[in-house]
Amino acid sequence: MKIGVFDSGLGGLFVLRSIQKKLPQYDYVYFGDTARVPYGDRSQAEIYRFTRQGVEYLFTQGCSLVILACNTASTQALRKIQREYLPKRYPNRRVLGVIIPTVEAALARAPKSVGVIATQRTVDSNAYVKKIFKRTEHVRVFQQPAPQLVPLMESDHVLEAKRMVAAYTQALARTQSSVVILGCTHYGMLRSAFRKSLPVKTRLLVQNDVVPAKLKDYLQRHPEISQRLSQRHTVVINLTKVNPHVRQHAWKWFGKHVPLKFVALAK
Ligand code: DGL
Repeated sequence: MKIGVFDSGLGGLFVLRSIQKKLPQYDYVYFGDTARVPYGDRSQAEIYRFTRQGVEYLFTQGCSLVILACNTASTQALRKIQREYLPKRYPNRRVLGVIIPTVEAALARAPKSVGVIATQRTVDSNAYVKKIFKRTEHVRVFQQPAPQLVPLMESDHVLEAKRMVAAYTQALARTQSSVVILGCTHYGMLRSAFRKSLPVKTRLLVQNDVVPAKLKDYLQRHPEISQRLSQRHTVVINLTKVNPHVRQHAWKWFGKHVPLKFVALAK
């Protein structure tokens, strides 16, 4: 069995790159819904349906464990997938999200204040705020939606995205937060722009640094899952639309030999 990584688009590939560096032995299957990205301003029903389709596809490709690298999907679809869909259809498979591991990493050094920058849907869900306050009340939390960043990164307008980072972080920078969570897969690709725009003393929490270690830990704690995983060092990338710049990124991060497959899903 393999490890599946789901994202609404290109951003999760960057997270998969970090996972693969830390745990190179496993076999990975990526699903990026590049034809329907961005998810960030879609309805919950739509995000759930799209996410379930992607997860189902990853299951057909032999994945027993799927990571929703997408924060928006983690906030809008994960719970229903775990509580309703898996028990009925795939009781022996697992789907994990990124919100709780990210919150745990953010709170690890007992910060006084936490900033969260994410898509509009993720911010509106208050998922980060709720999960933080469930663990501690001794912290202030600030949220900032950044609705333009995903569309700009997906259309390869990186310079414009960097300019928008400066604008989106102005209010967050004034909060002087101890830590700022980049709560979207795509934002990791803009790490240096965020670094420049936030105070030096603010710690930047990027999911590329969090998810691989948390996955390693999960696999150690769940031998019933890890023992079923094949170890042939492979990566296969599935996309609902193969854009030239996504292909360039895939080649840059995984080498030109990486199989890039087009997947057609029901509308
Ligand atoms: N990768 C998604 C996330 O982490 C981006 C959401 C979107 O498609 O708008 O939230």
